[in-house]
Amino acid sequence: MTSNAVLEGRALAKFYPVSNGPFRAADIVKALNGADFELEPGKTLAVVGESGCGKSTLARLVTMIEEPTTGQLLIDNEPAVPGAKTRKAVQIVFQDPYGSLNPRHKIGTILEEPLLLNTDDSPATRRAKAEAMMARVGLRPEHYDRYPHMFSGGQRQRIAIARALMLQPRVLVLDEPVSALDLSIQAQVLNILMDLQEEFGLAYLFISHDLSVVRHIADEVMVMYLGKVVEHGAAADVFAQPRHPYTLALLSATPIADPTHHKHRIMLTGELPSPLNPPPGCPFHPRCWKAQAVCKEEIPPLEGDNVKVACHFPLEPGEKPVTT
Ligand SMILES: Nc1ncnc2c1ncn2[C@@H]1O[C@H](COP(=O)(O)OP(=O)(O)OP(=O)(O)O)[C@@H](O)[C@H]1O
Ligand SMILES: [Mg+2]
Repeated sequence: MTSNAVLEGRALAKFYPVSNGPFRAADIVKALNGADFELEPGKTLAVVGESGCGKSTLARLVTMIEEPTTGQLLIDNEPAVPGAKTRKAVQIVFQDPYGSLNPRHKIGTILEEPLLLNTDDSPATRRAKAEAMMARVGLRPEHYDRYPHMFSGGQRQRIAIARALMLQPRVLVLDEPVSALDLSIQAQVLNILMDLQEEFGLAYLFISHDLSVVRHIADEVMVMYLGKVVEHGAAADVFAQPRHPYTLALLSATPIADPTHHKHRIMLTGELPSPLNPPPGCPFHPRCWKAQAVCKEEIPPLEGDNVKVACHFPLEPGEKPVTT
């Protein structure tokens, strides 16, 4: 079956062995335990969840920095293979705008490097493309000869975005791209990303631990907990009526710019369990106010027609948490 998807993940999983020393068998961390998604050109899939839930692992699989343990990745309906073709199609921007740019290289060199390595472009063509991309992300021509340390965090992130776009990728993986930036700068960078998406028809896999960041940019949301997808659907539906208690908890921790909106804050109690030793049954049950006996025993399947949810007792419209 073919689709419009430029990127598709089928039951993508990544398990890491963790050594216990020379005399004991290694444990297995199920960093990502089965993710299914499709991403169409011009659309944004937001992947959200707390630290350690497997977001960056998913990013490494999608960019083929690592191979999945099981499952399949498709680009334009064809199995993705590591190499130049994938590199051109899928690019990544990381969280840290300070560590991701070579401090010894000028901005022009940084932007032209992907062209130097992957195309036959002449020096003049490379320079023209770099300058055009700089203008698109709001950098001035004289920035071409400057070094990364001369830029602010927000400007550096725009340089990283420009570099990621030099090979005209179809998909951009954004791993917490604004988390290290001040709030006012976050909005600027998000606006540039939305403009670029519209201009180039880019598909975004946008990773964030913060639902408020993805509220305006996401078409679809995938909520993850301990390596598993617990809720997945159209962003408008998920924000309007979260079905998984974990999604509601994440949302309630998110500031909403509406003073008439009386919020019922849910404090996530209990520790986030280790993915090395996840709880039996539903992984969220030790922290869930709705948990029943079945939740401790049976893993709920991810199901639903529109929004998919992995919960034995999904929330009803308007349902509030019972806190003790
Ligand atoms: N190479 C590795 N070897 C062993 N365990 C790993 C490896 N990479 C990741 N993990 C583990 O897999 C889990 C998921 O990690 P991942 O980096 O994908 O989380 P994340 O959602 O990106 O977290 P954060 O929000 O902190 O960036 C974590 O428990 C992590 O410790
Ligand atoms: Mg991460």
